[in-house]
Amino acid sequence: MSDHDERTFVMVKPDGVQRGLIGEIVSRFEDRGLKLVAGKFMRIDEELAHDHYGEHADKPFFEGLVEFITSGPVFAMVLEGADATRQVRAMVGETDPAESAPGTIRGDYGLDLGHNVIHASDHEDEGANEREIDLFFDEDEIVDYELDAAAWVYEDE
Ligand code: RTP
Ligand code: MG
Repeated sequence: MSDHDERTFVMVKPDGVQRGLIGEIVSRFEDRGLKLVAGKFMRIDEELAHDHYGEHADKPFFEGLVEFITSGPVFAMVLEGADATRQVRAMVGETDPAESAPGTIRGDYGLDLGHNVIHASDHEDEGANEREIDLFFDEDEIVDYELDAAAWVYEDE
């Protein structure tokens, strides 16, 4: 894999889907030059919610978090690009939308910690991106192709 092929997992949460923000959010990543390599509109069941948010199982907010994330459809995706995990987290903002800078996704579309519109793999948790991609996607659901725009996004593509 080249330096431009780091993969990260991103998901528009049930609040973002219900508010009609899938297109806006996907557009931001496309506009940045990130390459969409997988996408799935789906409903998360209890088991997947527990696996995905397992790191928070002991926290007081866990039950509410599972209830929320299973409450309606989500749009899961895999994005590829240089330093993708860290760059996407920067575009997402802080966990709490109220603390997120305007211009970030949570800072532009959210006001409440429990309804923060989007999930993205944690760049400070080594391997979280690959783990989450494996949880949500089969390898054959990730599409291998050349993005023509990459030649203009990257100087050395
Ligand atoms: P996410 O995993 O959903 O992308 O969010 P994150 O990394 O920014 O934050 P994380 O610490 O992983 O927390 C997961 C989700 O749990 C909810 N939360 N509630 N009540 C609370 O103190 C609290 N803390 C976190 C948030 O909705 C957060 O997205
Ligand atoms: Mg997290």
